[in-house]
Amino acid sequence: KRYFYQDAAGFLWCEGIRVQSLQEDLSRRLPRPSRSPFYLYSLAQVRDNVSRYKEALKTLPNPHILGYSFKANGNFEMLKTLRGMGCGAVTVSGNEIRLALTAGFNPDSIVYNGNGKQDWELELAVRVKCLINVDSDFDLRHVRRAADTVRQRARVLIRINPDIDPKVHPYNCTGLASSKFGLECSQLPGLLQQVHRWPEQLQLVGLHCHLGSTITDVSLFRDVVSVVSAEMESVRSQGFPDLQYLNMGGGLGIDYLRQEDSNNPSPAYLVSSIRDALTDKNICLILEPGRSIIGDAAILVTKVIGVKGNGEKRFVVTDGSMTEVIRPSLYSAYHHIQLTEPSQAEDPTERVYDVVGPVCECGDFLGKDRTIPTPHEGCGLAVFDVGAYCSSMASNYNMRIRPAEVLVDGATWRIIRRPETLDDMTRCYTGLPPDSFTTH
Ligand code: LLP
Repeated sequence: KRYFYQDAAGFLWCEGIRVQSLQEDLSRRLPRPSRSPFYLYSLAQVRDNVSRYKEALKTLPNPHILGYSFKANGNFEMLKTLRGMGCGAVTVSGNEIRLALTAGFNPDSIVYNGNGKQDWELELAVRVKCLINVDSDFDLRHVRRAADTVRQRARVLIRINPDIDPKVHPYNCTGLASSKFGLECSQLPGLLQQVHRWPEQLQLVGLHCHLGSTITDVSLFRDVVSVVSAEMESVRSQGFPDLQYLNMGGGLGIDYLRQEDSNNPSPAYLVSSIRDALTDKNICLILEPGRSIIGDAAILVTKVIGVKGNGEKRFVVTDGSMTEVIRPSLYSAYHHIQLTEPSQAEDPTERVYDVVGPVCECGDFLGKDRTIPTPHEGCGLAVFDVGAYCSSMASNYNMRIRPAEVLVDGATWRIIRRPETLDDMTRCYTGLPPDSFTTH
């Protein structure tokens, strides 16, 4: 089911709200510098995505934690919604742990990942009793030191690097021997010895593995589960009876091409593919999805500033840019782009355009070589599938504010993150005269 759809007249809708009407409503409500662009979320899509995971996981005999990866999108209202639906929290920093606690996540289902954790972060994680994914030999030493400091036993999982190639963008491969994450299985005995030596500080409760992101070949997840469950069996037999968690990471891709007959694997397909590799019913399975929960649940709504041509090349210049959607610039990622209303241009013929933003940088583009109707100035343009790794990776480059985030629920909408102001952006400056921006 699609929650973003175009009607017969050519207008884009999000659930029961016409995007153009929402643009008009927002313009009445917000000051001019913060009206456009904005992120628009469909609550029904998020709910649907979580339910599909939950339904699929219910078919396994094993208990599970469906951990939502905060880094994909840390909007607080979204976090509360996901917590309410029974998700756990997958965090990668002390501040994300603090956010998870504030959003009401139970520490039993907060997972803490990272290859470079600081002492304050570890002390917090141990004190509140999160599950800590240990990334290296030094990381385990630091966890032990933190446990000593806060006089509390740390619950740890060890992250294995299986050297499996997920064949995705190099920046999204985390389980290759050449990547900075996890440790090769040959290093396990050394770490196990450490755990044995410090029983009051360290409790080994599981193993972890994360291959990468944007994965659509689910056989890779089966490989992960068989590698990790085999290791778990061997580690258990070496005197670690508390080993119960098999954390298979996240990484399921979504269909950025938005094809009618998408063959992107569903959570159900993912779960069915690992079923056979998961032989031990006493294992509690942890999943860490981010993108497949929130990725397709948002669009960036922008306005066309103008259309220009340079020789053969044609550009649509919008008010949205790489500061809101950096994935095209950073990973050459494809995001579907379409008009949110019928074009009123004098000649609305479809042509091939690069869709770019106003940021002073040639790498600032949202889409290349897109065949779209020639839009009029002020026309709405939507960039799809920006729920994951867009607002959370947004920046203030060029002194651009991070824009509003709006949530649609059926026929109603509300702002779930107000747009930043110049005052927000300059709050940490020193030497700024008081009331600097009131006169200009
Ligand atoms: N678990 C671990 C240990 C991770 O490193 C990640 C993502 C996840 C879970 C969640 O993966 P997901 O289900 O969202 O694919 N900025 C990049 C993605 C970076 C992913 C980093 N790790 C992008 O926009 O494609």
